[in-house]
Amino acid sequence: MEAFVISDVEAIADLPAFVQQRFREAESAVAFTGAGISAESGVPTFRGKEGLWTKFRPEELASVEGFLANPELVWEWYQHRRKVLSEVQPNPAHYALVEMEALFADFLVVTQNVDRLHHRAGSRNVVELHGNLEENYCFQCKAPYTEEIDLSSRQVPRCPRCGGLIRPAVVWFGEMLPEGAFATAEAAARQADVLFSIGTSGEVFPAAQIPMLARTHGALVVEVNPEPSLISEYAHLILRLPAAKAMPALVELLKTIRKS
Ligand code: APR
Repeated sequence: MEAFVISDVEAIADLPAFVQQRFREAESAVAFTGAGISAESGVPTFRGKEGLWTKFRPEELASVEGFLANPELVWEWYQHRRKVLSEVQPNPAHYALVEMEALFADFLVVTQNVDRLHHRAGSRNVVELHGNLEENYCFQCKAPYTEEIDLSSRQVPRCPRCGGLIRPAVVWFGEMLPEGAFATAEAAARQADVLFSIGTSGEVFPAAQIPMLARTHGALVVEVNPEPSLISEYAHLILRLPAAKAMPALVELLKTIRKS
């Protein structure tokens, strides 16, 4: 079935009746987010034009092998990304999801992002499928590392317990996703009446299964992405717009529909 495509913000106010009806009836919703929702905060995406993977090789920097081969290089790369995150703020798309949370009986943000901008914006129900860049732990004994991180240091910290290398609490390529997180996301996707896929290329699995799962279990799938993605083919509604513009307008419509 062909998706209904919107490419200007004004058109969001009068979406097709079937979409408005589904928005009105929905009890549970999932917002599945990727790097694109943070793009307008100034956080680079991975696969876009300026994407991180156009400059760096993921296997070198976001894998266990890469870390063991060159811990200083990997640590420095994450220090750089932490520095970027320390200078950015959530954008209107993150805040729109905070408002959206209040509009549904069940609402969950399932994010692939490690930037914690959803938390900083005030979202309360957030599942992080790929970990986060704030926390660290020992590569050897897995003990959480709670010392303050000096962003200017290239030195890889050592575990006070076993002397092992400290690593960021992000999920690297080839690693399992945090078990509880994926199970929670899966369960929410099965129950969802609506799933908003916002700012993701849908290229990385198993995370990208989430929108598919929602679709096969009857959810209305809405994609928010200025470019086509692997999610587009099974969206019912596509907002071909940047998230910081589309999301506030979408939330305004939801407020109007779900109040009446
Ligand atoms: N608003 C909405 N979407 C946007 C915006 C924007 N302003 N700018 C870019 N996008 C879209 C791009 O068109 C692209 O489809 O965001 C998507 C970003 O895709 P990726 O860079 O592949 O990021 P993501 O989908 O989150 O990657 C998934 O891959 O590298 C791993 O672990 C990493 O979590 C990441 C995972």
